[in-house]
Order: sequence, then structure tokens, then C-alpha cells
Amino acid sequence: MKISAKLLGSVLIIFVAAFGGLAYLADRSARSALVFEAAQQLEVVRRSRAEALTTYFNSSYDGLKAAAGGVTPDVLLHEMPRAIRRLPREVDGDTSDRRARLIDYYKTTIEPGLIRSGIAWPSAEGYVSRLGEEAIALQSEAFVGADAHRTAYGALHAQYHPRVVDFARSSNWLNVILVTADGTVVYTMQKGIELGVNLRSDPWKGTRLADAVEHAIHSDGRDRRFFTDYAPYAPAFGTPMSFMSTPVFGTHDTDGLLGAIVLFVSLNEIERTLTEHSGFGSTEETYAVGPDLRMRSSSRFHAEPTSLKLVVDTDAVHRALAGEAGTIQQLDYRKERVLSSFAPLSFAGVTWAILAEIDIKEVLIPARALRLRIVWLFVAFTAVAGALLVFVLRRVVLAPIGTLTHAAQRIEHGDFEQPVALDTADEFGQLGRVVNTMMGSVRSSLHSTQARLAESQIDLRQVAARLNNVREQERSRLARDVHDQLGQALTAFKMDVAEVRRRLGRDDYSGAGARLEEVSCRIDAAIDETRRLASELHPPALDDVGVIDAMRGYLLDYSRRTGIAGTFDADVAPAAPPLPKDHGTALFRILQEGLTNVVRHAEATHVDVRLTVTRDEVALVVRDDGRGIPPAGQRARGLGVVGMRDRALLFGGDVSIAGEPTGTTVTARLPLAEDS
Ligand SMILES: Nc1ncnc2c1ncn2[C@@H]1O[C@H](COP(=O)(O)OP(=O)(O)OP(=O)(O)O)[C@@H](O)[C@H]1O
Ligand SMILES: [Mg+2]
Repeated sequence: MKISAKLLGSVLIIFVAAFGGLAYLADRSARSALVFEAAQQLEVVRRSRAEALTTYFNSSYDGLKAAAGGVTPDVLLHEMPRAIRRLPREVDGDTSDRRARLIDYYKTTIEPGLIRSGIAWPSAEGYVSRLGEEAIALQSEAFVGADAHRTAYGALHAQYHPRVVDFARSSNWLNVILVTADGTVVYTMQKGIELGVNLRSDPWKGTRLADAVEHAIHSDGRDRRFFTDYAPYAPAFGTPMSFMSTPVFGTHDTDGLLGAIVLFVSLNEIERTLTEHSGFGSTEETYAVGPDLRMRSSSRFHAEPTSLKLVVDTDAVHRALAGEAGTIQQLDYRKERVLSSFAPLSFAGVTWAILAEIDIKEVLIPARALRLRIVWLFVAFTAVAGALLVFVLRRVVLAPIGTLTHAAQRIEHGDFEQPVALDTADEFGQLGRVVNTMMGSVRSSLHSTQARLAESQIDLRQVAARLNNVREQERSRLARDVHDQLGQALTAFKMDVAEVRRRLGRDDYSGAGARLEEVSCRIDAAIDETRRLASELHPPALDDVGVIDAMRGYLLDYSRRTGIAGTFDADVAPAAPPLPKDHGTALFRILQEGLTNVVRHAEATHVDVRLTVTRDEVALVVRDDGRGIPPAGQRARGLGVVGMRDRALLFGGDVSIAGEPTGTTVTARLPLAEDS
């Protein structure tokens, strides 16, 4: 991976992390602000709806109370029971005829509707057979009777009924019924099948309507009011109905309880109040739920009415029914996530849960828009910052790295001449300067090495030439020596031998012995000379007595020949290995050159030779007391010293020369390998 890609990648990761964190925080705070605001609005809506509902209930009750306390119910409950008792006698025909006609009416008009509604219905005959004589007369008059004015009840009805209707309409009541203290329904506004029946007998006994009446009749105060929660009401073909009841007392205190008045309140009014659109959000809805967890209004998300059908089993409902109020997020009856504001709504002994809810999705729409804006901002910012970064990276990092890489490649190919063209004040500039300095020192050491190499090449050439020269000189000297010494000696032998033969040929034996003695002496001298020549070519002592004795012998001979006093000292460590022959020869030649230099250049009177052999090395020191060798640069460039060094070098050793005013010390060291 390229360094630019790595840098860009890391910066991008940092961007994403920073922006992501920022976006997350912004999103979170936006969400909680939106939810908080929505919760407040929902609470306002819920409160206003609850208030409207309570107002409706209260005004209905006020109306009911007014009606119960006014003259109409009082009069009706006084007059009507009496009129009903007279009714069987006032109307035409006998009871069984009326009963048959009534059954017929039930069958054609009422029964089909009840059956359609799926209500348990005892059949028209079954129901009508339970009705008493007065009830039959009343119902047949009300349902099928021709002229109501013929009877006392008809007259009363005609007088008061329009007033009741006006009153009920103004309050949106569906029906109003009057029940005597013994439970008989003496008046119904809608002329339903309740008319004339006794609510304490079958099949009315135990119904909600009967309960509402019983509560009112058995209450202990004039102002008591009762409310039964909504439930399907069979006589209205299963329409959900709620009953509000209150006792009716006579106008005079002595009159006592006359009965009860009951209002039928349909759910429509409640739905109208609750489902009125608040203008707050398209998914906002307010609804009520009863203790049976069924809705008391219709869901705006269902086409069919849902009152008393849809079960809402949510946390908010349970908490509201338990008397709590608050706002939570939860899944509603549609399994949709909503913000739900809930509270209990109690009225005349019945408690409902009232809920105002809105889909979280809708609440968070502005947050989504914000998120989108942040993403766009991020993209734009990243593009601009990325371009800027690439530009800066190129200038500040990548270009210097490229320059340094090229310089490194040039160095790899041995080019130390061209300096790195990087003169910035940053780390790259510093690195460039360091590289330039390094290249400078490499260059100068290269130059000096090259110079030394050239010098040693010259030395080598000189050594080779000199060696050739020396070899030729040696040969001519040997030839001369052999010619002069041996040639002359042999010529002399020949002459002596010829002389002796001549004399012997003449039988002259005089002087022959002396002559042969001379020849013998000359032969001895020739033998000595031959030995000297051979010894110069290769000292035999090296082979015969070993290097130490050969050195000692050579020094003795040297002192004798040159008059320079010499001392020899050898120190061989017990652990030292035997000195190899090659090492011995090399050291012997070094000694020879050293001693030759002493006699040639040192003007010395004394020379010390010391040989030290340890386990690891052998050292030869030749020290004279002469005038001292000049420093390397100032002395004549001979081949003696070079030759000494070359010999030592062959064995991995070295030769050092120290010149002091009072003499020169030549030290040669040869390492001794363990297997040598
Ligand atoms: N023991 C010494 N005392 C004083 N000067 C010395 C001594 N040994 C060498 N030198 C100096 O060092 C020089 C170099 O010696 P080196 O042996 O290399 O050359 P050389 O003796 O002049 O010639 P050759 O090549 O024949 O040996 C000599 O010319 C001499 O000036
Ligand atoms: Mg020399």
C-alpha cells in the first residue's frame, strides 16, 4: 500500500469518525427535542379532548338532571302509570287479538333486524308472550294503533312527547325513557320494545339498562347520577349504547321517589369529540379505551367502526386505567411505533383511558431531513478537504519522499556526486541534509580509498619490476661468483693436477705432496664457497636446526661480518604450537631485510633481535640504536619495507616500524591459526 493511500485512508477514517460522532449527537439531540415537543403537543391535544368529553358528559347530565327535576318527568311518572292501567279497557278488541297482531308486527318489523345483528333473541312469540295485558295494549297502541288520541295515555303522550323530543335533540340524546319505581317503562321517546315492560322481569332483568334504572331507584340522594359504559344494545340491533340515569322525585317533598329517567347516549357524539382532527400531524389520533381494553371510539386507521370491537392491549392503556398519566413511546394496536400521551378519564364511576398518539416516524421526519443534510455536508466537506489534503500531501510529503527515493536509487547505483535537492525547514529537509553530508563523507573516503588503491598498484608494479631486477642481479652475481670463485678454483685445480701429472710422468716426486696439500686446501675453500652460495639461496640451517637457531646463527655471522654487536633472545610459551615452516621462512627473510637496513641506513652500533611465540601469534622485534628511521612521507621509497609487509600480509599479519631519535624498531606479527 502506498504511503499516500495510507495517509488519505487514515484521514478519511478520522473524518468519518468525527463526522459520524457529530451526526450521531446532532441526530440524538434533534430526536429528543422533537419527541419532547411532540409529547407536549400531544398532551395538549389529549387534555383538550378529555375536557371536551367531560364537558359533553356533564352537560348531558345537567340536562338529565334538569329534565328529572322539571315538571315533565314528574307529571309523566304520575299520570302515565294511571293512564296505562286504563288502556286495556280504552282500546278496541281483546288482548289475544292484540297479542297476535303484535307478534305479527314483531315478526315483520323487529325480528329480521335482530336476527341480522346476530343477537340472542327468544323469538317474537316468546317475547310477546311474556308481556302483560297493559304492556300489550301500550305497545300495540304505540306500534300499530290507529288513533292515539282516543285514550288517556295517547292524550298525555301527544301533550308531552314533542317537548321531550325537542329537549333530547338539543342534547344529542338518542332516546329517553321513564321508568316507575317498580321498574315498569311507562314512556320511551323512540317507541322501542322496552315500552311497557317491567325491567325486573325476563328478559330485561340484569341488563345494563335495568342496572342503570336500579341504581337510580335505589340511590339515596336526589342528585345521584349513574353511567353505564358502552355495550352493544340488542333492541337497537347491537348498536353500542351507554345509559345515564338519575332518580325522579315528586315536586313536593312528600311525594317521594316516583321512578327514574334514563338517557341513551350513542357513541357517535364521543367519536365526534375525540376524532375531530387537531391539525397536529397526519398520523395523530385520540381515542378512548374502556376497562375491557376495547376502544370506545373508532380508529382513524380502520374503514369499519372499531368501537367496542378493537382490543387495545398496550402499556399506555394499562397505566392510564391504573390511574397514571404520562407520555411514552410504544407499539400501538397497529404494531406501529408511536408516541403515546395517556391519562385516565373518570366519569360517574366509569374509568376509561384516553390516549393521544402520533407515529414516531412522523415526529422524526425533521430529524431525517437533518440527517440527510448532515450527510450532504459530510460529502461536500470530505470532497473539499480531500482535495486540499491531496494537494498538501503532494507538496509537503510525497514530493520530498519522491526526491529522497530518487536519491536513494542513485546511491544504490553508486552515484554519490549529485546531492539531494531538498532544502525545506521540516524533517524531510533535515533528512536531505543528513543524506548530503553522508554522501560527502562516503565520497571523500571513496576518493582516498581510490588514491590508496592507485598507490598500492604503483607499489605493486614497482615491487614486480624490482623483483625482476633483483632476480637478474642475483643471477648475475651468482654467475659471477661461480665464475670468479669456483671457475678460478677449478682452473687452479686443473693446473695443479696437470703439474702433478707432469711431474709424476717424469718420475719427479719432489714437491708432489706439498702440491697435493695445496690442492686439498683449495678444494676446501671451493667447498666453503659452494656452501656460502647455497646458503644465500636458501639458508640450510632453516631446514636443519629450525628458525630460532638459524636466526641466532645468522645474527652471529652478521655481527662478525659487519662489526655491529647483536643480541638474540627467543621466548616460546609452553602452550605455543610448533612454528610452521612457512612462517619461519617468512620471519627469517624479514629479519634479513631488517638487519640489512640497519647496516645500510642506521649507522648503529648495536642491534637487538627478539622472537616471541605464544599460542596465538609469533612476533619478531628488531631494534637498533642508530639514527632512527624518518617518518613514512619523508623517507626514500625502497622495496624492503614493502616486501616485509607483503610477506606478513600473506599470513594475515602486519609489520609496524617506529622511528625514534635514538633508533628504529621493526615489529612483525604473524597470527598462528590453531590448525597451522
Ligand atoms: N633501521 C633503519 N634506520 C634508519 N633508517 C632506515 C632503517 N631502515 C630503513 N630506513 C630508511 O627507510 C628507507 C626505506 O627502506 P627500504 O628497506 O624500504 O628501502 P631501501 O633499504 O632504501 O632499499 P631496498 O629496496 O634495497 O631495501 C631507507 O631508504 C632508509 O632511509
Ligand atoms: Mg632495505
